[in-house]
Amino acid sequence: MNDRAIWPASMGALTRFEPQSWRVNATQEVSYEVRQVDGIFTPNSLQLITCGKAKPCSRQVIVIDAHVDQIYGDEMRAYYAHHRADVSILSLSVSEESKDLDSALMIARHIETAGVLRRSEPVVAIGGGVLLDLVGFAAGLYRRGIPYVKVPTNAMALWDAAVGIKTAVNALERRNRLGSYHAPTLALLDRSFLSTVESRELSNGMGELLKLAVIKSPRLFDLLERHSEMLLLTRFQDAIIAPEVIGLAVEGMLEELAPNLWELTLDRCVDFGHSFAPLLEMKALPELLHGEAVALDVLFSCRLARARGLLSDRDVHRVVRVMKSMQLPLRHRFFEQPGLLQEALEDTMRHRDGRQRLPLPDGIGACCFVNDVDAHAICAAAKEMAHADA
Ligand SMILES: NC(=O)c1ccc[n+]([C@@H]2O[C@H](COP(=O)([O-])OP(=O)(O)OC[C@H]3O[C@@H](n4cnc5c(N)ncnc54)[C@H](O)[C@@H]3O)[C@@H](O)[C@H]2O)c1
Repeated sequence: MNDRAIWPASMGALTRFEPQSWRVNATQEVSYEVRQVDGIFTPNSLQLITCGKAKPCSRQVIVIDAHVDQIYGDEMRAYYAHHRADVSILSLSVSEESKDLDSALMIARHIETAGVLRRSEPVVAIGGGVLLDLVGFAAGLYRRGIPYVKVPTNAMALWDAAVGIKTAVNALERRNRLGSYHAPTLALLDRSFLSTVESRELSNGMGELLKLAVIKSPRLFDLLERHSEMLLLTRFQDAIIAPEVIGLAVEGMLEELAPNLWELTLDRCVDFGHSFAPLLEMKALPELLHGEAVALDVLFSCRLARARGLLSDRDVHRVVRVMKSMQLPLRHRFFEQPGLLQEALEDTMRHRDGRQRLPLPDGIGACCFVNDVDAHAICAAAKEMAHADA
């Protein structure tokens, strides 16, 4: 062999193959921290002003959900004033319908106008999953990638959107069809934001807790079975159960994400609840929220699992009971239409490189993957979906 290493290095290597061919091999290290915090805008708290660095930042570029700004804006500005920080704030009205390239471009323009330093001034994103996805997407594109920090304020965002490295906008009539993998440098999870979240939004976020519990964590399922009503009622403000539930959910997510950050493996148990929901949710917009669609997919998939002997009748009843206590919908007409469900699965198969790779619960709290769900099975489960309590 005439290969010659021109530049071997820890982060990247260059090899020449004779006579006129070169190969670059490089790896990118990803390191970010997800931290549960209390009182993020408490004047003496250093969590936000340091953004994971040793010293407070003298300047911060912030993008905040306009609705969240209405509620927490005064507190946030007082916090930064206390730290004498120069802040440049974009307060952006966002929704699933406006989670698009135009909004991402507005964020990029704000970053440009603020003249953010390329490496040392992370953009701070404060809001729900939509805002976090948009800022992550813009930060990943701006100068081909600048650092950003996630501050989730909604339930779904707190234990899901803030935890991973995926960013996205809706495009081409599909949810999240354009996106990237762009890790934040830090995610600061303060559950006190949930005290002002509307009940339906809380239930919506709990759809993702249900997903994780059914497919991965008997302990989480047990807690949700016993405490979902209380968690909803207290808006996750109790000092014992809520932090444990959030901690279990975040750790469970990270256990699955960390070894597979770039989704090289497409058999992902965290895709449970995301097999049929993506297309149906997009078609139902704005009728169904994301977590509601996920929960319906969870129930539908549990019914598929029961038909295969993976779950018992009792297991499915337990899932139904937890969904009720989370005030999640048990029915939607789209989940009762076999043709539509089949179309949704086919769309998901393209996302999973041509195979179903359908995560199904193998008992509560464990996962297996199947590739042979046929029209007959979909039809039978769809029929059951029309009888919510069955
Ligand atoms: N990147 C990921 O890994 C990932 C994971 C899960 C979900 N997501 C994305 O997240 C989005 C859903 O997120 P979402 O459910 O947070 O929706 P959202 O961001 O639209 O927020 C829902 C509503 O809650 C309001 N809100 C947020 N925080 C509040 C607070 N503290 N008090 C009162 N109101 C508040 C918002 O203003 C908004 O009206 C979807 O677009 C989904 O694709 C991304």
